[in-house]
Amino acid sequence: MEIKKVCVLGGGGFVGRHVVSQLCERGYEALVPCRNINRAKHLAVLPTVSLVEADVHDPEALKRLFEGMDAVINLVGILHEKKRGDFQRAHVELPRKVVDACRATGVKRLLHMSALGASPDGLSRYQRSKGEGEALVLAAHGENLAVTVFRPSVIFGPEDSFLNLFARLLPWAPVFPLGSPHARFQPVYVGDVAQAYVASLGNPATFGKCYELCGPKVYTLQQLVEFVARVKGLRRLVLPLGDGMSALQAWFFGLLPIKLLTHDNYLTLKTDAVCGCSFPEVFNIQPVALEVEAPLYLADIAPPRFISEHRDR
Ligand SMILES: NC(=O)c1ccc[n+]([C@@H]2O[C@H](COP(=O)([O-])OP(=O)(O)OC[C@H]3O[C@@H](n4cnc5c(N)ncnc54)[C@H](OP(=O)(O)O)[C@@H]3O)[C@@H](O)[C@H]2O)c1
Repeated sequence: MEIKKVCVLGGGGFVGRHVVSQLCERGYEALVPCRNINRAKHLAVLPTVSLVEADVHDPEALKRLFEGMDAVINLVGILHEKKRGDFQRAHVELPRKVVDACRATGVKRLLHMSALGASPDGLSRYQRSKGEGEALVLAAHGENLAVTVFRPSVIFGPEDSFLNLFARLLPWAPVFPLGSPHARFQPVYVGDVAQAYVASLGNPATFGKCYELCGPKVYTLQQLVEFVARVKGLRRLVLPLGDGMSALQAWFFGLLPIKLLTHDNYLTLKTDAVCGCSFPEVFNIQPVALEVEAPLYLADIAPPRFISEHRDR
């Protein structure tokens, strides 16, 4: 299968920009539909990338985008719902429309982003919707559409919204009450995830497969927060909360206008995001360790704007 032109849904996001820039490096042409082109303008400098404003939930718009493409990568996903039904729209209905539009336009290759823990029987609505989406994409694999699904653990890298969040909050909290402290993760570097995507595009060995992507080591949430504090040179008391207090904290944060954590996230954290095996051999990637890469970008993180605004007031 010869692949040259790739449409990347969600290409303007954290993982997307790494996937798009690696596609570019390898000589692919990438079309990136965005809700707001200004938020993805960092990609405009890449020589073989085209940005276009489009509503990817409109089946006709999707068909227009996919016309002439050799492959589609779907990275669209959310952690929090703004309104009820957002998970279903982003994680189930959109993948279904993507499959339909691939079939209608003759696109023969589809890469889909799921997540570890995704399952139709998952505890959280996030996990259930991701699981449903993943299942329908895998079921679409066949002669005319080669599908590959990826299930990463939490992804770290410059501009991630996980470690960076703690890096912004910790300077303001000498005592840090931490919900779900024993939740387990195997963080994977964003560059490794992007490399796996690009490597699998034209590789028939990956067709019809679902890959778990993890870094070299398992950490609890508490270990990760303590790691961030150490990197930032902060002596912090991380106060592990029990299950009841964790649920209460998530419920309270869920009421705030800025979504740091919701009750659905609390339920997601009850399932370990760890792999049962090492990084898939087919990609020939030695996954980058958190201790090597994260200090390079965490040390300079400023506190979140809403905290400085509050302090100024
Ligand atoms: N980051 C992680 O740790 C992690 C771990 C496991 C799985 N994943 C999955 O990896 C994918 C990418 O994650 P990310 O960290 O790169 O997230 P991100 O930075 O928030 O990017 C998500 C992308 O999806 C687009 N998007 C979100 N909701 C949309 C909607 N309703 N309609 C159209 N576009 C929408 C966003 O567009 P705008 O730019 O217009 O907002 C953005 O381009 C997601 O599917 C996520 O579930 C991420």
